[in-house]
Amino acid sequence: MTTFKPHQLSCTRKLDIPFVREMAQITQHMWRFGWDERNGGNISYILDEHLVAEHLDIHHVIRTIKPAFPVHELAGRYFIVTGSGKYFKNVVADPEANLGVLRVSKDGEHLELLWGLKDGAVPTSELPSHFMSHIERLKVDPSHRVVIHNHATNVIAMTFIHELDENKFTKTLWEMCTECIVVFPDGIGIIPWMVPGSSEIGRATAAQMKDHRAVIWPHHGIFGTGSTIDEAFGLIETIEKAAQIYMLIVHQPIRQRITDEELADLAKAFGVTPREGILNAKQP
Ligand code: 13P
Ligand code: ZN
Repeated sequence: MTTFKPHQLSCTRKLDIPFVREMAQITQHMWRFGWDERNGGNISYILDEHLVAEHLDIHHVIRTIKPAFPVHELAGRYFIVTGSGKYFKNVVADPEANLGVLRVSKDGEHLELLWGLKDGAVPTSELPSHFMSHIERLKVDPSHRVVIHNHATNVIAMTFIHELDENKFTKTLWEMCTECIVVFPDGIGIIPWMVPGSSEIGRATAAQMKDHRAVIWPHHGIFGTGSTIDEAFGLIETIEKAAQIYMLIVHQPIRQRITDEELADLAKAFGVTPREGILNAKQP
């Protein structure tokens, strides 16, 4: 009689692995929102070793992958990531081809593939931005776990017509929906337009992540972070909703608005501290 070890059983029923299921569900949601055309978007999610060990054989390294730069700060950490060139719409049907579980080697020089990335697939080309963002967010928030990048439609649209000053941009978003200032009192970071997939864009993104949980890449998309997939996704969802309202009203005469005083009242009522310099940012 064949006996299955727990990890082998879970490997055959991939969507039974909770973190694989979470990735499959969220990539499907984002694709349905129209934020992840073709292979657009990528996710990386830090996993606890004991959780990975419950479902996979952590002593069996399928192959090693060289990262763009050594990541000593993340040595020994486990991640589930989306593959490069993979379509979010296809993750549910074949998680093992489109996702991968990796461990950063003890010396930080290699990535050890433990599951997925079938047929020689590689992690997202935005891994430098993800890794550098994880490093910065972990410094300010030890509970940080998730980085999500996608091509949120209205956020991209807004970067063509709104000034790219991060305080002014944040202020406009706060004014669009009552709950925005409560969801992202730390504001939005914005970097200049840069070539994606590079360590340079990773460094610029991570520099913004010191102070913000979300960073906009003009004419490209957004990075959102959080302690859970729900938090990182909810942050992006809220920012995108505000950007959508902006795009709906920008050509209309404005008859009334949420005032600065009301924004301050909201922050007080919900016990959040708005980042300094945004509430009084002069609008274009
Ligand atoms: P990957 O397919 O390599 O994840 O790239 C998609 C993307 O959105 C690049 O910014
Ligand atoms: Zn992208």
